[in-house]
Amino acid sequence: MRVLGIETSCDETGVAIYDSEQGLLSEALYSQIAMHAEFGGVVPELASRDHVRRLLPLIDEALAKANCSAQEIDAVAYTAGPGLAGALLVGASTARALAWSWGVPAVPVHHMEGHLLAPLLEEDAPDFPFTALLVSGGHTQLLAAENLGDYRLLGESLDDAAGEAFDKAAKMMGLGYPGGPNIAAYAERGEAGRFVFPRPMVDRPGLDMSFSGLKTYCLNTVMDCGGAEAMSEQDKADIAHAFQEAVAETLYIKCRRAMQLTGHNTLVMAGGVSANLRLRERLAEGLGAQGVRVHYPRHNLCTDNGAMIAYAGCLRLMGGEQQEDLHIRVRARWPLTELAPIAS
Ligand code: KG4
Ligand code: ZN
Repeated sequence: MRVLGIETSCDETGVAIYDSEQGLLSEALYSQIAMHAEFGGVVPELASRDHVRRLLPLIDEALAKANCSAQEIDAVAYTAGPGLAGALLVGASTARALAWSWGVPAVPVHHMEGHLLAPLLEEDAPDFPFTALLVSGGHTQLLAAENLGDYRLLGESLDDAAGEAFDKAAKMMGLGYPGGPNIAAYAERGEAGRFVFPRPMVDRPGLDMSFSGLKTYCLNTVMDCGGAEAMSEQDKADIAHAFQEAVAETLYIKCRRAMQLTGHNTLVMAGGVSANLRLRERLAEGLGAQGVRVHYPRHNLCTDNGAMIAYAGCLRLMGGEQQEDLHIRVRARWPLTELAPIAS
């Protein structure tokens, strides 16, 4: 099976071709980050319009890189949600139309299932069941993944997602969008211990999380340093370090608790924040000592991309799933736990 995957849920136009025998054949990506950066965050209408501009050339690029003709594509998978409705509609309508004109199935894919399965594209892929930490700009969730499509929510952020907190904290410090990579870069030069941020909700039982308090703490610290304009580069680095430590430690504590609850010996981490090296290191050292293996995707498959959609679509197609009608449907909100288990 050879599947073309299309991702347009937010600010990345991603296309890839995955072959069930040969693996990932090609990838093409356009990131709109530079366009949104001047507004300090994603502008939905601009995102949709840019997906319209970029998508078809990227599909041509992915086909050319894979040395593959349209006739060799067996299905078109696309992100059907969750995400920005207008942005999703660009991918959904293009995918549905292409699949119809090529006479092949279209396969709707849940964006977060794409993230969750991305680590399975790596060599030494983990097997089900495993515990999953999904950490992106819109979601922070712990799940028990029993099988393909069989996901049980263990806990989640009750307010901001971890990535959103990174983005907002960065904005307060005058660092650009997206905040995660910028905070991570500053944190490397930060002095440990000058500031200590709280570890939210770790003293409460359960696996729910909260990151909005960290944001307030960050704002107060910035103000204590005289505000973003007055702060030195070292102040920024020290605050970034403290912020990143607090997020990594909080997520580690919650993951450790989740592993005890599920009894799994594999943790799969995915989503944009899983690119954070300090978080990877903290989970590996803390959970590794307890015999838990931590898996995450290669760097460019942590953030949004077409490969994870092509792969998830291929697994679903092989499990007998495809869109039966020609309607163009997307879901801006769509809990991952609503998916039905698929025979793998
Ligand atoms: O998965 P993703 O590309 O999009 C969503 O589905 O939301 O995640 C984007 C998020 C942003 O909030 C970004 O700041 C964060 O991932 N991110 C990071 C890093 N790289 C991206 N956060 C922390 N450290 C990073 N290295
Ligand atoms: Zn994402």
